[in-house]
Amino acid sequence: KQTRVEAVMKLAPVIPVVIIDEARHAVPMARALVAGGIRAIEVTLRTQAALDAIRAIAAEVEGAVVGVGTVLSGHDLAAAERAGARFAVSPGAAPGLLDAADDSALPLLPGVATASEAMILLERGYRHLKFFPAVPAGGVKLLGAWASPLPQLRFCPTGGIGLANAPDFLALPNVLCVGGSWLVPPERLAAGDWAGIEQLAREASMLRRPHA
Ligand code: 3PG
Repeated sequence: KQTRVEAVMKLAPVIPVVIIDEARHAVPMARALVAGGIRAIEVTLRTQAALDAIRAIAAEVEGAVVGVGTVLSGHDLAAAERAGARFAVSPGAAPGLLDAADDSALPLLPGVATASEAMILLERGYRHLKFFPAVPAGGVKLLGAWASPLPQLRFCPTGGIGLANAPDFLALPNVLCVGGSWLVPPERLAAGDWAGIEQLAREASMLRRPHA
């Protein structure tokens, strides 16, 4: 499962974090992201429409690898797997969720913000982690400081990242990709501005990442 997480993280420099209010927006949004070069898409379980959005993208968008975000429990994990999610992302690493993930086919990218949390996950076999919330928790300096003592780990920093600071994170030796909501701004989603989302995706897909 760690191999599958790694493959998802290597698909593009950015995993878009999506908050979707209307399921009918899911397919055109995902098509725009894929057209712009972004294949892995994290749909967060923060809205009623999330599971329907995952189901629609999984069924209808060729080239997309749809994942589920904001996973807080084993119940979330199971529901997303049934909807067709191919990977899961959580803001932290609660023991109950990790136990459920052990029994699930869905690969999990769990969030950490401290070295101790990262070491606990390393003990449980995780090599690929989300660093969350990346900028508030200490940003490039904190994550860079883990590279030497925790060389086994690879990260997807998320939280407070945009096109301007993404290159600083992607330059770190322990970063494979970054996550962020900037590719799918709520106003573009609401307006159905698929060309605008495709353009944001294209810019993001062209970011350089020397260590992935
Ligand atoms: C979130 O919490 O919504 C994600 O981590 C994305 O954060 P961002 O909006 O700062 O990109």
